[in-house]
Amino acid sequence: MWGPVPKVLPFSVQSLSTDEIVGQGTLFFNAGYETTASTLNFASHHLATNPDVQEKAYTEMKDLLGDEEPNFDNIGKLKYLDNIITETLRICPPVFVIHRRASETIQIKGLTIHQGQPVFIPVLALQRDPQLFKDPNSFKPERHDEKSNPLSFLAFGYGPRICIGMRLALVEMKIALVHVLRRVKFERMPNTKDELTFKHSVVLTPAEDIVLKISPRF
Ligand code: HEM
Repeated sequence: MWGPVPKVLPFSVQSLSTDEIVGQGTLFFNAGYETTASTLNFASHHLATNPDVQEKAYTEMKDLLGDEEPNFDNIGKLKYLDNIITETLRICPPVFVIHRRASETIQIKGLTIHQGQPVFIPVLALQRDPQLFKDPNSFKPERHDEKSNPLSFLAFGYGPRICIGMRLALVEMKIALVHVLRRVKFERMPNTKDELTFKHSVVLTPAEDIVLKISPRF
């Protein structure tokens, strides 16, 4: 049987040990770099395979930002770009499973989850569930114009342990995309896949290289 969840954490809360500082620092690098880089890779693929979406994003940034440098204050104007990132994270969540440990025994729809039992939440499967998202494998940023159940989108997790870097990640990914999409266009190549497949890894990793053509905008 699963043991109870300890009420007092098994490390000091008075001060951090060197190991804890190194652990937290490493976690920040691991959690912060690969996740944002992967999301930008997945976004590039979806923009190349959905040229109408890419043009709409380009028009939005031209109309609302003009030649302004993208920054924390003006990036919030770009609602469609925000939808593109949310849709990328829905269809390709870099953290595709999150986990919890039950703090007490509970019954949900006839299923007993015991105190201390680990629970794995399949983020990717949930975010592609046709009961939650119509035509779930299609890349449709417009679907995020409407509010949905917040528990149907778990790319950053949920609750007190939600991703601590979420806001930073969203701002940096949007700024990066504005800089890139202003200058270049992502296009398909003959061997660009319609749909990405993934291999076993800690973060969601494409099974094959993402192949795209990048042409300058004039
Ligand atoms: C697209 C980018 C990112 C995605 C998709 C992402 C996703 C996640 C997810 C799913 C969790 C677990 C949440 C839960 O269990 O409820 C998490 C936790 C965390 N993330 Fe992120 N993350 C991203 C970017 C970042 C960045 C940029 C940083 C730091 C600079 C960061 C730092 C962390 C940390 C420290 C945790 C652990 C929080 C805790 O346990 O209290 N993440 N992230």
